[in-house]
Amino acid sequence: MRNKLIAGNWKMHGSLVGNPALLQSVAAGAATLATVSLAVLVPFPYLAQTRSHLEGSSCAWGAQDVSDQPGGAFTGEVSAAMLQDFGCRYAVVGHSERRARHGEQDGLVAAKALAAVEGGLTPIVCVGETLEEREAGNTLPVVFRQLDAVLDTLGVRRMARTVLAYEPVWAIGTGRSATPAQAQEVHAALRQRVSAADWVVGSGLQILYGGSVKPANALELMGLPDIDGALVGGASLAADDFLDIGRAAARA
Ligand code: PGA
Repeated sequence: MRNKLIAGNWKMHGSLVGNPALLQSVAAGAATLATVSLAVLVPFPYLAQTRSHLEGSSCAWGAQDVSDQPGGAFTGEVSAAMLQDFGCRYAVVGHSERRARHGEQDGLVAAKALAAVEGGLTPIVCVGETLEEREAGNTLPVVFRQLDAVLDTLGVRRMARTVLAYEPVWAIGTGRSATPAQAQEVHAALRQRVSAADWVVGSGLQILYGGSVKPANALELMGLPDIDGALVGGASLAADDFLDIGRAAARA
């Protein structure tokens, strides 16, 4: 039985003054959700503040990226060890916004996932196709290519220390989520691919869905057999919405 995880990707939102109210509400809500795990993935500068509000709560926290390098002359980068210093459990790698805006390729995403695992973090590895790729019938080849890079670099045993997130690019921030059938199809295919390498790892792997998840569609998505939670962008910035998604996951 896989537990559900609802992870809030704040993206480049938040402020030192505004964050405490959101963090305190999320921490209080997490205490009422026994069967679902919550996490927030905040901008680097807010990690210390996030830790101070969430430490001792049942809500975990993490970052939205991590360097593939352990340390050194890498201007602007943040290592897994630094994230560990701030109590992070998770680091997102391969989010489509980084793939698109920063040209991150599969090889770099895989190297980041490896650095995270070796640094004691759980990478949340994002895969997903663009609308063009979907319409050309290439959804599975694209997500398999993205998954295989990570699988090859980590080896299937270390995949057990990751979380996978399927985020169709056309569903992110658009208000247009994948249909339950579309999401379930890709989740099942991703799980099957990992299971083919190691059945135990595949069947235990948490696979989150991301892309316009909100309270109104969460119950249906979270009730699907291969969906083990959500990576929530916009709706994670309002505590009520974020916690409603958590409650939907608990009911599903
Ligand atoms: P969204 O973002 O929920 O705002 O669509 C999801 C994500 O990018 O992780």
